[in-house]
Amino acid sequence: MRVAIIGAGVIGLSTALCIHQQYQGLTPSLELEVYADRYTPQTTSDGAAGLWQPYLSDHGNLEETIWNKETFDYLLRHLGSAAAREMGLFLISGYNLFTQPVPDPSWKNIVLGFRNLTSKELELFPGYSYGWFNTALMLEGRRYLPWLTKRLRQGGVKFFHQKVGSFQEVFAQGVDVVINCTGMRAGELQPDPQLQPGRGQVIKVLAPWVKHFIITHDTKSGIYNSPYIIPGSEFTVLGGINQLGNWNEENSTQDHKTIWESCCRLLPELQTAKVAEEWSGLRPTRPRVRLERETLSHGHGQAEVIHNYGHGGFGITIHWGCALAAARLFGSILREQQQLQPRL
Ligand code: FAD
Ligand code: BEZ
Repeated sequence: MRVAIIGAGVIGLSTALCIHQQYQGLTPSLELEVYADRYTPQTTSDGAAGLWQPYLSDHGNLEETIWNKETFDYLLRHLGSAAAREMGLFLISGYNLFTQPVPDPSWKNIVLGFRNLTSKELELFPGYSYGWFNTALMLEGRRYLPWLTKRLRQGGVKFFHQKVGSFQEVFAQGVDVVINCTGMRAGELQPDPQLQPGRGQVIKVLAPWVKHFIITHDTKSGIYNSPYIIPGSEFTVLGGINQLGNWNEENSTQDHKTIWESCCRLLPELQTAKVAEEWSGLRPTRPRVRLERETLSHGHGQAEVIHNYGHGGFGITIHWGCALAAARLFGSILREQQQLQPRL
């Protein structure tokens, strides 16, 4: 059986790995192929800070909360392993800040040591009157994607650097199942009016003295243009832009100014930090992740697609739970097809 995974961001590569781990031994004829026109370090997943936090996504969807938890617990199990460093995985603690009291998030019992801020802590952040502190995880895409790729190559998965024009084009090559992990560009393969870009821009600076993440939330306006500061293994990421409907992947000088000034107001020590990089990317924003099976007609027969896209500002946070769910859907296809095979 030939399976084509379209997309080589965190979603495509982790889904490929999960299917490989669960089914390669059981189905020796399984051939996994990854197709993408952007590979690491050129994907959205590479530019993301990599913090585990369901950012801009706490809509109370139970399924997504379970996938977030499965991802956190999976990563936590990897923490003590020799691979953690190569994966770009480490613990990080920090603050979420608000201008007024808010309900606790869906993920308060997933992360470690979640608690409300004390008034003494709030004095550190003028203008904010409410907040949380917790320990979470960082999983840096520009390290994790090469690690996933290495494991897939070792397992014999084939990689093709090309743009896919349609599902039919892939089925015409003899592929039996397509796994659609195309992120923000899923609409090119099948129109999806629910999917829209949430454009982000970040400045990566050298500021090794920053040890905690600080994420602010402007709950009054409902628009997310609130600064965040997330220290990584090499750079500290400054951001906070989310422009719905904006497809521009170029950096904007106006957004640079907004990010720089708001982050320096939040943490004045940043004023002396050296800028290392600037990056813009599009969050694949959807009211909920699209993770489902679809049977399409192909020629005189039928072909199967598993969609796994629309992970907004939380693709790294949720990826493994989604990979497990996609692998279960793949298992259901395998079982159906085995039942259809005549017994010899
Ligand atoms: P992508 O990484 O964009 O990968 C899509 C893949 O599909 C690419 O390989 C592309 O080439 C391929 N593709 C698409 N169409 C085709 C086609 N027709 N033919 C061939 N290939 C195709 N999330 C977090 O959890 N934590 C964070 O700290 C975080 N920070 C972020 C910061 C910013 C500024 C932004 C913009 C996002 C951030 N995110 C974060 C969100 C996260 O980056 C995304 O949710 C995630 O990268 C989506 O992964 P993906 O694999 O679906 O998409
Ligand atoms: C973002 O999408 O910009 C983001 C995601 C998770 C944590 C912080 C920021």
